[in-house]
Amino acid sequence: MKSTTFLGALAICAALSLVHAVPSFAHGDVTPQPIDTAGLEPLGEEWRKENPYRGNETAKSIGESGYTQNCARCHGLEVISGGLAPDLRFLEPGATGDEWFIERIRHGAKKTDGTTIMPPFEGIFNQEAMWAIRTYIESRPTE
Ligand code: HEC
Repeated sequence: MKSTTFLGALAICAALSLVHAVPSFAHGDVTPQPIDTAGLEPLGEEWRKENPYRGNETAKSIGESGYTQNCARCHGLEVISGGLAPDLRFLEPGATGDEWFIERIRHGAKKTDGTTIMPPFEGIFNQEAMWAIRTYIESRPTE
């Protein structure tokens, strides 16, 4: 029957998209992509608590590509979440959101049973790259 075949195909599509999303989510086996931060003011060793690049256009474009390659698979393209992970457009703006952002991106997130649900990025990106991503996220409209 035609309609059954159609439903079957739909089910297969749904299953495939799950298969695509779940392994990287569960095992964190996607290689992080390096982020070239040339052109940004260097920040040194000490971790900032507040985004030093807010509104900086260079930071925004570096952050956009860094985000797209490393965060979008969970948090959604253009920072519009598909539901797999929180929608980062709704992080608090300004210093309050900055502190939470840098904590999460450095250390990632685990479930209470110890399963990693977001990989840590400390040691992979420098803080210039992290604040560039924050700059891009904050530039995204919420509607
Ligand atoms: C493997 C999927 C995955 C990837 C990749 C990922 N995240 Fe996450 N992220 C999550 C999940 C799931 C949560 C929710 C954690 C929780 O509820 O404790 C989260 C939470 C966050 C939070 C806190 C959000 C809130 O509302 O409290 C921030 C900030 C964040 N991620 C930033 C990033 C950035 C920036 C990147 C890319 C460098 C990234 N994440 C990559 C899955 C991911």
